[in-house]
Amino acid sequence: MSIDEIERLVKAFGVAAKIIKTSEFDAIEIHGHEGYLIDEFMTAKWNKRTDRYGGNLDGRLRFPLEIVESIRKAAGPDFPIIFRMGARHYIEGGRELDESIVIAKRFEKEGVHCLHIDSGCYEARQWVKPPIYMERGCYVDVAAAIKKEVKIPVIAVGRLDTRSWPKRFLLKERPISSRWAGLFWRIPNGQTRPKRGDSMTSGHALVATMRARLKGNTSAVL
Ligand SMILES: Cc1cc2nc3c(=O)[nH]c(=O)nc-3n(C[C@H](O)[C@H](O)[C@H](O)COP(=O)(O)O)c2cc1C
Repeated sequence: MSIDEIERLVKAFGVAAKIIKTSEFDAIEIHGHEGYLIDEFMTAKWNKRTDRYGGNLDGRLRFPLEIVESIRKAAGPDFPIIFRMGARHYIEGGRELDESIVIAKRFEKEGVHCLHIDSGCYEARQWVKPPIYMERGCYVDVAAAIKKEVKIPVIAVGRLDTRSWPKRFLLKERPISSRWAGLFWRIPNGQTRPKRGDSMTSGHALVATMRARLKGNTSAVL
């Protein structure tokens, strides 16, 4: 992609954000997962650029962070932004958890309000669409490891698909598909699995928490 194409795309995210806000959606999720375009920029294995959008982590995060800024400018500072990323690609040379933690802290510092932690990429497809032989909650550990390092809400996924493992997720619940029911477990820091007595929360509570934190109430937790 040329610099001109990147700048036009960053602007287009702003335009889309304005439409989403005026259409009264609750939040915006940026899809930076699975080896798609944004993930390609973020990942050293795929990003071989020698300009300001490549090289070290700062260069590789420039594109997604410019998108965050473009959305914030268009939708306003108090419109919740969720960033979806893979904690691990499960391929040689792919991103590992240690770098994902650095990235997560950077997104928090740059004003992202919630992280949606997934895993895998097309070269490790079984991790992108976990089949039944994958353990239930197969990505909860990496989400929990990231949650230990940030104060913003973290969404975990990964075969949380039985009644006792209510799922995640927010936006998709409305516009894109109804595949995912919108309930979340409220898992205390340091714990990696929900246990009897832990409570659930809804997508709206997640948005409310993000909004409260936006209004400066940093003690607001789910
Ligand atoms: C049949 C199927 C299709 C999927 N299609 C997409 C897709 O188009 N885009 C995407 O980002 N993720 C897609 N995913 C990945 C899911 O969004 C989700 O990340 C993954 O299934 C892990 O979460 P879960 O076990 O909680 O469903 C798909 C998953 C499945 C099973």
